[in-house]
Amino acid sequence: MTDYFADIPSISFEGPDSDNPLAFRVYDAERQVLGKPMREQLRMAVCLWHNFAWGGHDIFGDPAFERPWLTGRWDADSNRLRLDAAFDFITRLGAPYFCFHDLDVMETPESLRDHERKLADAEAIIAGKMEDTGLGLLWGTANLFGHRRFMAGAATNPDPDIFAYAAAQVKFALETTHRLGGENYVLWGGREGYDSLLNTDMRRELDQFGRFLALVAEHKHRIGFKGLLLIEPKPQEPTKHQYDYDVSTVAGFLRRYGLEQEYAVNIEVNHATLAGHSFEHEVASAYANDVFGSIDINRGDPQNGWDTDQYPNNAADLATAMTIIMEQGGFTSGGFNFDTKLRRQSIDAEDMFHAHIGGMDTLARALLIAEKVIEDRQLAAFREQRYAGWSEDKGRAILSGDLSLADLAEEALAANHDPRPVSGRQEYLENLVNRQVG
Ligand code: XUL
Ligand code: CO
Repeated sequence: MTDYFADIPSISFEGPDSDNPLAFRVYDAERQVLGKPMREQLRMAVCLWHNFAWGGHDIFGDPAFERPWLTGRWDADSNRLRLDAAFDFITRLGAPYFCFHDLDVMETPESLRDHERKLADAEAIIAGKMEDTGLGLLWGTANLFGHRRFMAGAATNPDPDIFAYAAAQVKFALETTHRLGGENYVLWGGREGYDSLLNTDMRRELDQFGRFLALVAEHKHRIGFKGLLLIEPKPQEPTKHQYDYDVSTVAGFLRRYGLEQEYAVNIEVNHATLAGHSFEHEVASAYANDVFGSIDINRGDPQNGWDTDQYPNNAADLATAMTIIMEQGGFTSGGFNFDTKLRRQSIDAEDMFHAHIGGMDTLARALLIAEKVIEDRQLAAFREQRYAGWSEDKGRAILSGDLSLADLAEEALAANHDPRPVSGRQEYLENLVNRQVG
């Protein structure tokens, strides 16, 4: 057992006037918002990788964090310490869920057979901890990007043996996720892309990727896993170009390979902005394409062009996306996962708490803004009014396919149409939202 967090009290809600940096000022788990307690609306999860498997190294610098479980060896003792610390941390914090990659939670395997064995050992420890703490698993995943064998991709590798190795790893991780009662399973294709087209057969790689995802879906049904399979889009990093570039690309890919019923997306804020989109654009695209699943809520830095994985700290920035999600009825099996990293100088145990408390309060604040915007009704009413024509006879006839291009031209000519444009009222609508930011 580690006492690394022993000096930190359990974090509780103290309200907006509290000066206690180790308390929530907005996130009040039981407070009802839009018909559900905040805990159930936000479904927040702590990721095990950045918090417990990463030591604060960057591409120029060595590990900066001195954690008792980062011993330099990835053996049974350090793994036990890591899992003890992780569950202790999340319980003190009061987040209801966690997420993991296979390799975050297990000893380093010496072979594929050993991988299966060691993941099973880790699963037994995690199952006991979930039982003791009541924490839930939002999603599990397999790390198919860290080991050098995956340098040219996992599913999209030129070598079918590596495809098969990755398939085995996903089979184990999916089954573990299922047995642990995981609510979703994520596939992030970090190396599923290319560094140079000079050595890449893109069509072949896309077909391989489609096949891989079909196999995973087939296995999900075989084992009776009821959670969502989620693809996490990202445009690049580590590859120069990743095939699951953004939500629309993924939606098109899924349709091409007949997988649109099988997969949804896990949208990451930082990946959205790396793709040149806003976060809310990706959320709206997911709903428009019927693939909304879950969120990684870590953001980028406006001046850095890479994946900085920072904690959310600006509720106004998240208000539009949060409003869209809540207008659609909120999460089903998804939630908000903090796939977040501390800054490298934030080396203390309490920094982990400040970071997550700030992130959780920010999401709670964004939720309260969304609640006000939705209850105020003006935004939704404006939008309904803007498209009202499409619910009337003319609009319905166009969409039903009853009218040809020639019919439309003839009608427009007969009526000598000169429709007048109407204001989009963007600034008025921005003010409506800002009024609720307070
Ligand atoms: C990488 C990333 C991953 C996925 C899970 O940018 O976001 O951590 O969330 O593999
Ligand atoms: Co992520």
